[in-house]
Amino acid sequence: MSFWDNFTNKAHLIAAHRGDRSIRAENTMSAFKSSLKKADFIELDVNFTKDGVAVIIHDDTLQRTSNVTKDSYFKKPYNVIDYTYEEIRRLDFSSWFLEKDPFGMIKKNSIYNQIKSIPTQRISKLSEVLQFAKSYNLPLNIEIKDMSHTPFDDVAPKMVMQLIEEFEMSDKVLLSSFNHSYIKKVKKLSPLIDIAALEDDKIPSNIVSYLQELKASAYHPHLPLTTKELIKTLNRYNIYTNVYTVNSTKTKNRLFKEGAKAIFTDYLEDMPE
Ligand code: G3P
Ligand code: CA
Repeated sequence: MSFWDNFTNKAHLIAAHRGDRSIRAENTMSAFKSSLKKADFIELDVNFTKDGVAVIIHDDTLQRTSNVTKDSYFKKPYNVIDYTYEEIRRLDFSSWFLEKDPFGMIKKNSIYNQIKSIPTQRISKLSEVLQFAKSYNLPLNIEIKDMSHTPFDDVAPKMVMQLIEEFEMSDKVLLSSFNHSYIKKVKKLSPLIDIAALEDDKIPSNIVSYLQELKASAYHPHLPLTTKELIKTLNRYNIYTNVYTVNSTKTKNRLFKEGAKAIFTDYLEDMPE
């Protein structure tokens, strides 16, 4: 069974980008729980701590999504890779969201008290999220962040793959990365896992042969790079196009009409027109 077999009766898929990110602090268990029954799968970002724990955080620094600057134990530039899992675990990864309301949804929906009552969120291990997803039979798109210039550059793909296999989640996971050497390694280690190449810069002119060479079953282009022709070409070769980040209903409908398989969105409810 492949990742795509989880969706045999569905033409189009909705991926929760970093969880239910417009109404919960991104990449937290609270954001993942809030995505249940609203999305077809959840997208999340994996980084590594100093002691080699795969943790869920988008940035390679702790500043934007935790209270790290308020804790004098931590020093600038607050790199994730400079601290152990136990050290990072003491930080609060959710209060910033209540304070900033980055999508304006707390104010719009008058849910301040509801969000405030959610327990403080800590950083999650990938193993915790795999356990959670397994218990809900929930497919995941795990993005491995670029670990170049860290001791984990060589081993990150293998470490992530080992965890997926430990939880027997290979058929529930789509692995992606902007670092295409990572997904290539993963596919070599575990030929049955589905992989996707992320792109935020330039689509190569030989995109089909490039993806075929990688053995990628999907392409994840940034929305501004995505054209009708690209989707059509990839579909002809049975490669799915999953577009990020789509936060407008009109764009979502257009992309699905043009043949995109999935969209990554921050809005699982109340997507702007
Ligand atoms: O995987 C799609 C999207 O998450 C890639 O960009 O920066 O949000 O991780 P980013
Ligand atoms: Ca991501």
